[in-house]
Amino acid sequence: MIFKATEENIFKASELIKQGECVAFPTETVYGLGANAFNSLACVKIFEIKQRPFFDPLIVHVAEFENNEMARKLAENFWPGPMTLILKKNQNIPDIVTAGLETVAVRMPDHPVARELIKKSGVPIAAPSANLFGSLSPTKAEHVLKQLGDKVKIILDAGPSRFGVESTIIDLSRGKPLILRFGGLTAEEIEKVIGRVEFSQNQQNNIVAPGQLLKHYSPHTKLLIVDSAKSAMRDFKGKRVGLLSLKKPKNKKDFVAVQILSETGDLKEAAANLFESLDRFDVMNLDLILVEPVPEIGLGRAIMDRLRRASRN
Ligand code: TXA
Ligand code: MG
Repeated sequence: MIFKATEENIFKASELIKQGECVAFPTETVYGLGANAFNSLACVKIFEIKQRPFFDPLIVHVAEFENNEMARKLAENFWPGPMTLILKKNQNIPDIVTAGLETVAVRMPDHPVARELIKKSGVPIAAPSANLFGSLSPTKAEHVLKQLGDKVKIILDAGPSRFGVESTIIDLSRGKPLILRFGGLTAEEIEKVIGRVEFSQNQQNNIVAPGQLLKHYSPHTKLLIVDSAKSAMRDFKGKRVGLLSLKKPKNKKDFVAVQILSETGDLKEAAANLFESLDRFDVMNLDLILVEPVPEIGLGRAIMDRLRRASRN
């Protein structure tokens, strides 16, 4: 059920966390499905509800943090915020959370409700995005309800997510920092603070990031990335095609439906609208969604990453 994220309901949710139950809660990136990170049985429930494979580890959400120098530097600059750090783990974190890896993913979210929930629960909260495994990430409480239904007792509702794409994941466990997933914090911002960082190539057999599956974040409708939607339409005459457009398109008439990510082509606004736009297309019974590439700068990298994964069969 959806509950407005009032003081009282956050308290109720924190009581459920303490009792070993799962709750869905807003963060500045996407909605999360959380459980006490120290309680393995509670964390098992996350995997069951999401139908997520156990080899895919979870991010642990904290309200406070201490660690090594590079982690501290990044934390000082970007936490609370849309950044997840992969660090060497200690004994307190159960294997179920980290899929047996020697490392753990840690993030301090910048959403007042998420922060309050963690503080009131008194434990770190393990939370993946609150969607079914492989499906679109939820940027509104309604999206969580649609995918997870009554399997979650409390879905705390605080309106749409500010960023709309997940956190940027930086692996600090292997000497050189490596970006494993592009997200709400841009590579440009990170490089200003710690200098050059490398990006993971995301091969399918890359065990560094078990969850970085090539197909992910997918709408049910087939999605194709094309250089020119207009010329691609020649191949799809008579088909019900939707256009996902970064900004106001010149030509709308070939398409059954058009979703504009940002009237002005602003990448930040576009990221915030991405998953919801794909979700809207999904109920329109289309044969295909076409999308042209967006510039791979700033949040454009996270957008293109999600689109590429969504376009995999
Ligand atoms: O913005 C976010 O990060 C959202 C909100 C709820 O905080 N959470 C989120 O969680 O996106 P999830 O589970 O959907 O994605 C977590 C990713 C997965 O790809 C997982 O494989 C990776 O983090 N991950 C977790 N622990 C890891 C580790 N120790 N090493 C490498 N990758 C890890
Ligand atoms: Mg996810």
